[in-house]
Amino acid sequence: MTDQTSRESKPVQTSQLRCIGCGVVCEKAEQNFRCTSCGDLLEIVYPGWNTTRPDATALRALWRQRRTSGLPVDESGVWRFRELLPSFHDWQQIITLREGHTPLYEMPACARIAGLQQLYAKHQGMNPTGSFKDTGMTVAASVARREGFRWVACASTGNTSASMAAYAARGGMRSLVLIPEGKVSWGKLSQALDYGAVTCQVKTDFDGCMRVLNEVVQRMPVYLLNSVNPYRLEGQKTAAVELMEQFDWQTPDHIIVPGGNLGNSSALGKAFLEMKQLGFISALPRVSVIQAAGANPLVRTILENGGKKLISVQAETAASAIRIGNPASWKKAVGVLQATGGTVEQVSEVEIAMAKAEIGADGVGCEPASAVTLAGLKKLVKQGFVKVGESVVLILTGHLLKDPEFTLKFHRGDLFVGTESEKEADILRPQQRAPIVLEASVDAVVQTLNAAEERPET
Ligand code: F0G
Repeated sequence: MTDQTSRESKPVQTSQLRCIGCGVVCEKAEQNFRCTSCGDLLEIVYPGWNTTRPDATALRALWRQRRTSGLPVDESGVWRFRELLPSFHDWQQIITLREGHTPLYEMPACARIAGLQQLYAKHQGMNPTGSFKDTGMTVAASVARREGFRWVACASTGNTSASMAAYAARGGMRSLVLIPEGKVSWGKLSQALDYGAVTCQVKTDFDGCMRVLNEVVQRMPVYLLNSVNPYRLEGQKTAAVELMEQFDWQTPDHIIVPGGNLGNSSALGKAFLEMKQLGFISALPRVSVIQAAGANPLVRTILENGGKKLISVQAETAASAIRIGNPASWKKAVGVLQATGGTVEQVSEVEIAMAKAEIGADGVGCEPASAVTLAGLKKLVKQGFVKVGESVVLILTGHLLKDPEFTLKFHRGDLFVGTESEKEADILRPQQRAPIVLEASVDAVVQTLNAAEERPET
């Protein structure tokens, strides 16, 4: 890429950091990305949009055209939409693994199971490190490097750390990972190690890791890459923009998102609101958030006090990615639920396991945390919140191979042995396909094939 092609002929737009609580605007964020006046989170706003609105028709065409370009900034499925992101003077400064460009799948079997005519899944697990985190990381890691940081850091349930470690390595920065000891899947942990992160298994949970890291970044010149960093959310917005492009800018009725630290639901909601404001879409989808019943702070916050004050919980779920009791972005997520007319729902461990197998059986697959979407959707259809003829998109956040241990235990029937869900887990039997050990004989294989032929498909 030459200098000429990597520089935009005119600045795209300027962005500002604004507090979501008191509205104060600041030039540069503190190390903890919190407002110095009131301590609330910051968000990124684009004041120029109030005077010169981007031309939606021209941009749709430009974004489509960029798909044929060979420039890294155009090949990225995030930076392709850079008119809606903080701008860089020199696009060679960005760190990209060609993230985004994730598929939108029709899910016919899952639709039948949920009682819908049509169901889609936007699979963010098809990103370079296997989760949606890459779309935000390309933006925030690029900002870290532009600001001259040598070290970046995050607390994580696994996916953020895998993504951060990869982008730091690509950008020539060092990375520090704090993960809860024994509560992160091997797939995710091994990624952080391979990408060269200093990986600390801390003897606490995710919320404890976050508390420690917030102190560390006050003391050391380390750039925080958790989703309190608003640049992360700007990148994650682009999944919604890409989704609308895939739907030819016709808004689906519902978007269903898993909720952990609540950055992703906040980012997707922000994108839909901005697209509506700018005239890219004429209607908003309802954005609903599903949590594991054992890690349900947002559900409780909405149901018990209408979203006014966070109710933290001691989180426990086998969907380890969303084992979070004190979500940082809860206020942003409440704003999205209210602005889009979405709702919250919680699902049991057995419901998560069942939904994950059903998504797998549609030939798509995902990690447990992503499967809460289908489990929650089934309940929302039963309640009548989602209607039979409406269009629904599940946001699948992580790849099936992120947590193979969960999948193997499920199919071997071990997942709930010795837990209080053991009895309830009987309903999972028809979904289980344990591997079959055979002698090396043709007859044995043929007999197995015949037996499988007689077994009804579930
Ligand atoms: N799904 C997956 C696969 C995740 O890894 C996460 C969060 C979520 C859903 C929830 O998204 O936090 O934006 O509400 N994982 C973080 C991590 C916390 O450290 O990897 P959220």
